[in-house]
Amino acid sequence: MSRGESKIDISKIGAMLSGRSGIAELMEDLGAAMRDGSQAMMMLGGGNPGHIPEVQAVWRRRLREIADAPACCDPMLADYEGPAGSPAFRTVVANFFRTEYGWDIRPANVAVTPGAQMAFFQIFTLLAGEMASGNHRRVLLPIAPEYIGYADQGLQPKTFCACQPRIECIGDHAFKYHVDSKRLEQVEEIAAVCVSRPTNPSGNLLADEELEQLARFARQRGVPLIVDNAYGEPFPGVVFREIVPRWDPGRVLVYSLSKLGLPGTRTAIVLADEELVRRLAVMNAIMGLANNNVGQALVQPLIASGELKDLCRQVIRPFYADRLAFAQQAIAEQFGEDFPYRLHVSEGAFFLWLWLPALPVTSAELYQRLKRRQVLVVPGEYFFYGLPEGEDWPHRHQCIRITFSQSEETLLRGIQGVAEELRVLHRGA
Ligand SMILES: Cc1ncc(COP(=O)(O)O)c(C=O)c1O
Repeated sequence: MSRGESKIDISKIGAMLSGRSGIAELMEDLGAAMRDGSQAMMMLGGGNPGHIPEVQAVWRRRLREIADAPACCDPMLADYEGPAGSPAFRTVVANFFRTEYGWDIRPANVAVTPGAQMAFFQIFTLLAGEMASGNHRRVLLPIAPEYIGYADQGLQPKTFCACQPRIECIGDHAFKYHVDSKRLEQVEEIAAVCVSRPTNPSGNLLADEELEQLARFARQRGVPLIVDNAYGEPFPGVVFREIVPRWDPGRVLVYSLSKLGLPGTRTAIVLADEELVRRLAVMNAIMGLANNNVGQALVQPLIASGELKDLCRQVIRPFYADRLAFAQQAIAEQFGEDFPYRLHVSEGAFFLWLWLPALPVTSAELYQRLKRRQVLVVPGEYFFYGLPEGEDWPHRHQCIRITFSQSEETLLRGIQGVAEELRVLHRGA
């Protein structure tokens, strides 16, 4: 406590939302490294999108167009929109998905939220926790590891239950997670099923058939299937395998503008049944009055004209595919054929998920050692929450996440640092 401050009594919920949290510490570390300005830290952590010049030029062009059009600029800056988002934007989004995929989506099925992180907080709070019946329901994550940002969400403890996946080892240096349906069937009292697709951190992309199995499972349990498309189709479309996205009543699809290069606009889109959309709008009003208008104004005409979709296909996806190939090659060269490691197959998103089956320390310890070497990664431990207590699974301490959205030079120097540290550790083991 600093001088002159008195102690504040914190509520239980307040303590949960402001105490120790993996995501908060990660954001602190990243923020500190960004502010450092020395460029010394190799930023292989975090989910910041790459700065793609061609994409940034589009946002700057849109800002100029908006500034030159008072009919767009003035309400964007000077008006609170309704809490579900701008009606014109919601109509454009609904039309886009109707035309693109033939889904029966109307503006009343579209909610805008202040970023996907907030959308998940709202959705999980609506669905999970203590029910009117007195039962406690949890959000089921069919595959652990899952997105670190969910871990501390919800207003009650135990918001999540997660399942160990089946692990398929591929060749000498690759592996892939699959849903273990036997484990899934054993879980009771679920509020929803939720997956990020592609998955942060592993780069896994559930195949269409696997997702349909989850949809059937969710329907049988009478709960929604929530699909987090932060990196998914059609925008930003950082997927490296063909999939056919699908929406049906009872399914909740969440999209974000962040990974398009617009995290500063804090804008996400939820497609869901009308009742959920109405409830999200009320929550938005209570928690923050209205959404940020800027992201909606920037992308609305680009969604309507198809320019955004083309930008994703022609520029954003190839950019990340190139970075991925570079990072995979750097790992193969720096680690060498004989080193014991496996990379999860990369089917989407910005991350390499590195499994070190012979790691002599935990990944949390490896993270600290790498930080001292000026290499910032994310330790895997954080992504394995919600698993049954007492389940002994060494794998959860043997993985790290490496972001490949940064420059090739940063990637190469960072991966060299990881390889050197691992060699030191293995020599000492
Ligand atoms: C899988 C996943 N979902 C949701 C989010 C949150 O995104 P937003 O910036 O829209 O809050 C992220 C951000 O990294 C993410 O990786």
